Amino acid sequence: MRMVDIIYKKRNGNELTEAEIQFFIEGYTKGAIPDYQVSALMMAIYFQGMLPHETALLTKAMVDSGESIDLSAIEGYKVDKHSTGGVGDKVTLIVGPLVASAGVPVAKMSGRGLGHTGGTLDKLESIDGFNIEMTEEQFIDNVNKHKLAVTGQTGNLAPADKKLYALRDVTATVESIPLIAGSIMSKKLASGADSIVLDVKTGSGAFMKTLEDSEALAKEMVNIGKNLGKKTVAIISDMNQPLGFEVGNANEIKEAIAILQGAKVEDLRLLSLEIATHMTVLAGAYSDYDEAYAALERNLENGKAFEVFRQFVIAQGGNIDMIDDLNKLPQAAHHIQVTSDKEGYVTKIDAESIGIAAMYLGAGRATKDDSINHAVGITLNKKIGDIVKKGDVLVTLHADTAKPDDSVRKVKEAYCFKEGSVERPTLIYKVIRD
Ligand code: URA
Repeated sequence: MRMVDIIYKKRNGNELTEAEIQFFIEGYTKGAIPDYQVSALMMAIYFQGMLPHETALLTKAMVDSGESIDLSAIEGYKVDKHSTGGVGDKVTLIVGPLVASAGVPVAKMSGRGLGHTGGTLDKLESIDGFNIEMTEEQFIDNVNKHKLAVTGQTGNLAPADKKLYALRDVTATVESIPLIAGSIMSKKLASGADSIVLDVKTGSGAFMKTLEDSEALAKEMVNIGKNLGKKTVAIISDMNQPLGFEVGNANEIKEAIAILQGAKVEDLRLLSLEIATHMTVLAGAYSDYDEAYAALERNLENGKAFEVFRQFVIAQGGNIDMIDDLNKLPQAAHHIQVTSDKEGYVTKIDAESIGIAAMYLGAGRATKDDSINHAVGITLNKKIGDIVKKGDVLVTLHADTAKPDDSVRKVKEAYCFKEGSVERPTLIYKVIRD
């Protein structure tokens, strides 16, 4: 087999066989096929696309390029969740304990933040002593004991994706639905859960800006799951503004705890309940959506989900005093109110700009080796649909410098207004399943 023939075939719009897909994935992972040939193939796929079962074969080859986690030692049906990335997205911190409170094990591998989006591991490390590095054995043991554990990525999962993603990043071939779907699903499938719930974000702060593209991506990922024998449900949710009111690290932990203690922060609570409901129904803990939703709502009200969170923090070495007295979490030196120079109804809060403003404060990383300041972040005072008068507080910046001018500028750029009332955005657009 010759790589040049595979490039020709795809360039001319033809379907690749399983053997051809395996050949280039294996060859590229081993270093036997050069970047320039794979770049040409990625560009051919970008323009010609792939058929659904071809995308599934590509995903399978990427999974097979490395290790897969074996979660069979965890008792019960395991459902994983994945978000395509948002600002203020602390849903895992709520969904994890909530699903576990229904007796469904959650073995979660999470990542760190980069650029305008935050990472679950960074948020958890706001709690002194919280340990996200575990052996596979400790991880499995913690899930069996507490129904919940969160760790950084272990093992060499989907190495082909790591190489391909780096190459796509510098060859203008990231924005291809089959390539994105294969990339995300290869990592999820290698993580070993029995089923997957995907939160596909749509809007100005999301990877996919339009509902049409988000739906196409969601359908492609659900189809990969179906082809490879993992039941997958995709929820398409709004990212035209940050989720909840807090963006940062320690402040996001506080907001997640408030929800676990029954607070009614509308978008954050509803999205968390939606995701947790699909996860528990897939796991067979409840017979249908309505029963699951009602039971999970009760577990937010009666303290069960919060108690799972407390036990999880203790099990991973976190200082529980910080959870029982949230004033002990890291605190910024200054709390600066940013007021509006304009007036009207809020039509949009560009989530990416808010994420960048938080990154300038030190809450996120510009490059992957930067360190994080857990104390700093942003509290939104106004969301889409709210009325704003000149001088009203838009956000409060929690900063360690007295004059965070770049963040102030970025926040002001993020807010858009118009005269006349504005409807609040839809939170959940669609649920896609096979
Ligand atoms: N996230 C991924 O993991 N892969 C992509 O291709 C795009 C976003």
